[in-house]
Amino acid sequence: MSESKSILVLNGPNLNLLGSREPDVYGKVTLASIGESLAEESEALGFSVECQQSNHEGELIDRIHQADGSHCGILINPGAYTHTSVAIRDAIAAVALPTVEVHLSNIYRREEFRHHSYIAPVAVGQISGFGADSYRLGLYALIAHLNSTTAVV
Ligand code: DQA
Repeated sequence: MSESKSILVLNGPNLNLLGSREPDVYGKVTLASIGESLAEESEALGFSVECQQSNHEGELIDRIHQADGSHCGILINPGAYTHTSVAIRDAIAAVALPTVEVHLSNIYRREEFRHHSYIAPVAVGQISGFGADSYRLGLYALIAHLNSTTAVV
């Protein structure tokens, strides 16, 4: 792990519309509000978060590359790119920063095309189906992983 205790929280396409987008599926909480909660929770655990969102695959890849050296881990909701993007998967594999994948909805209870994740095999783990709480649970899981892998014994 790098010296940094900053976690990159990266959100993919359409997640900027959280709060108004299909609220029956994704809830009514906005991305800004999720970011504020994560900032508070991470601070209490001795970390900070930087929250970013993009609707563009290449931009998400650039941000993953830039995280190498400036962040110690990645919490990512790749949105629909979860099911399509070999390139995002390869970027995560390339930087080798511990990465936790999160989804608001339970992707395994939905359409079959959502059942496959290109990201899961390069992630430490995946949390799916707990609404906005998926981010909080994912943050805790990532921090627990970071703390365990850097513990001095
Ligand atoms: C999502 C699930 C994806 O299948 C979908 O394309 C999204 C959101 C989720 O958080 O539940 O955009 O990642």
